[in-house]
Amino acid sequence: MQYSEKVMDHFMNPRNVGEIENADGVGTVGNAKCGDIMKIYLKIDNDVITDCKFKTFGCGAAIATSSMATELIKGRTVEEALSLTNSAVVEALEGLPAVKVHCSVLAEEAVKSALADYYTKIGRPIDFEVESDEHEDDH
Ligand code: FES
Repeated sequence: MQYSEKVMDHFMNPRNVGEIENADGVGTVGNAKCGDIMKIYLKIDNDVITDCKFKTFGCGAAIATSSMATELIKGRTVEEALSLTNSAVVEALEGLPAVKVHCSVLAEEAVKSALADYYTKIGRPIDFEVESDEHEDDH
C-alpha cells in the first residue's frame, strides 16, 4: 500500500496527542468493523477552538487523520470545524489509499461528536448530524 509522505509524517510524529483536562467537548467514535477507536478533546473559548488533542487506538491512517484533523481545526471557530469533511482531511494528507478512506471518516465523526458534547454542555441545540458509538452496534 502506498502512503503519501504527509501520511507517514503524521503517523510517525502525530501532532496534538494526549488529553485535555476539563475539556469543553469530548467525542469518542469507533468503527465497528475494524474495532478502531478515536477520542478527541476540545478546549473552546468564545466559540473558538483554542486547543485540541486526540487519542486514537487504531491503524496508521486513523492516527494520521486524527493528527491532521486536530491541526485543521485548531484556532478555528466551531462553525468552521463543523464544516470539516473527511475529504478535506484526506486532501490535506495528500491522499489515502481507497481502502483507508473510512479511517478519515472516523476523524470527521470524532470532531463532530466532540462539538456535539460542547453544544450539550452549553445548552445549545445540536443542529448537525452526529454518529454515536451506540448505533455502531445496532444491527
Ligand atoms: S482500519 Fe480502522 S480506522 Fe483505519
